[in-house]
Amino acid sequence: MTEMKKFYQLDIEQRQRRLLAESPLTEEDIKTLQVAGGLSAAQADLMIENVAGVYALPLGIAQHFVVNGRPVLVPMVIEEPSVVAAASYMAKLAKTGGGFTASAASQEMIGQLQILDVSDPVMVKEELLAAKEQIMQQAAQADPLLVKLGGGPRDVQVRIMDDSPLGSFLVLHLIMDVQDAMGANAVNTALERISPLVERISKGRVLLRILSNLADRRLAKASCTIPLEALAFDAYSGEDVRDRIVEAWAFAAADPYRAATHNKGIMNGVDAVVIASGNDWRAVEAGAHAYAARSGQYTSLSKWLVNTDGDLVGELEMPLAVGIVGGATRVHPTARTALKLMGVQKASQLAEIIVSVGLAQNLGALRALATEGIQRGHMALHARQVAVAAGASPEKVPALAEQLVNEGNIRIERAIEIMNEWSQK
Ligand code: MEV
Repeated sequence: MTEMKKFYQLDIEQRQRRLLAESPLTEEDIKTLQVAGGLSAAQADLMIENVAGVYALPLGIAQHFVVNGRPVLVPMVIEEPSVVAAASYMAKLAKTGGGFTASAASQEMIGQLQILDVSDPVMVKEELLAAKEQIMQQAAQADPLLVKLGGGPRDVQVRIMDDSPLGSFLVLHLIMDVQDAMGANAVNTALERISPLVERISKGRVLLRILSNLADRRLAKASCTIPLEALAFDAYSGEDVRDRIVEAWAFAAADPYRAATHNKGIMNGVDAVVIASGNDWRAVEAGAHAYAARSGQYTSLSKWLVNTDGDLVGELEMPLAVGIVGGATRVHPTARTALKLMGVQKASQLAEIIVSVGLAQNLGALRALATEGIQRGHMALHARQVAVAAGASPEKVPALAEQLVNEGNIRIERAIEIMNEWSQK
């Protein structure tokens, strides 16, 4: 059972007990949520250099997600208020239309070799392509385990770069199926392995040997259908909300200034799960924005349209280079807990959840922006922070924040006055 009614109304300890009772998490896993940041300084010291401490961020659990028919609790690590609530709420709307349908069929990454000082690029390209099998065989030797697991080199492609500031050179792409890893290590190791052979064949000089974060052979896709009745709220009819969302999307589709913010909203959801699962969010960010600019104009990663039944349909497609083995996914105790909570057995399943969360987050932002604006929701959270700053005890914070919002006067001085009035009663 993954649907947790009023999870948001519980305190942290009760939420942890609920997770223990209703998710695959054990006492041991719950403990990782209780240590601040889930990582000791000693563990952190094994991850990077010059460790002087750890830096914690909030981990919230998004509710109501159904991805490919499977209910899933989604751990999200993020400092920004409203993101987890919006994701949960939008997942609830999507659930009325059957949830999210997602796919992440290919786990292929691209590795790049830059080959300089080639006398005849057209001829050398042909020679390299003729040696494709030999190059792939060498690349496979770099990671026999990956090959045994069904992954490994899949193809070799060669591109001639004519427009570089230094004249023309060649780029060899090694395509590798990295299975359940993020893949940077597997690809970079294979590239270093094949570069002497490539130098011999090309009689050129290999300079860079590094994977590309434009992982456009590792795309994840999600779609959802939101029935009209789920879209209606307050004075807004379902048709009105639907049409406003499509209009808001059209803005991002046409204008890079808007698309950057629109996609940032998608990444609010995507990054939060990427971080929770111990994955490299800079790689995912780089891939997402490069993919958004693939036509030559930076544009929206998502699409919103109206189907023949008149319902709202959302689609999101983006590169998602995420793994469930290797790196922090296994080293960071909370990342392990996060993966366990989502019940993912394969990297593709993780990508399917992440892309669904990105789509939900986009819907939340567009729905708010195209109707009442986002400040109303933000003000409620802002009022909570003002109440805390005014010195309210945790049990008084909700009522005080509510009164500040109702009065439309969210200031510390007023919060202190109200508390004084309460204490005199
Ligand atoms: C804020 O973190 C994200 C939004 O700006 C996204 C958007 O504008 O679509 C609300």
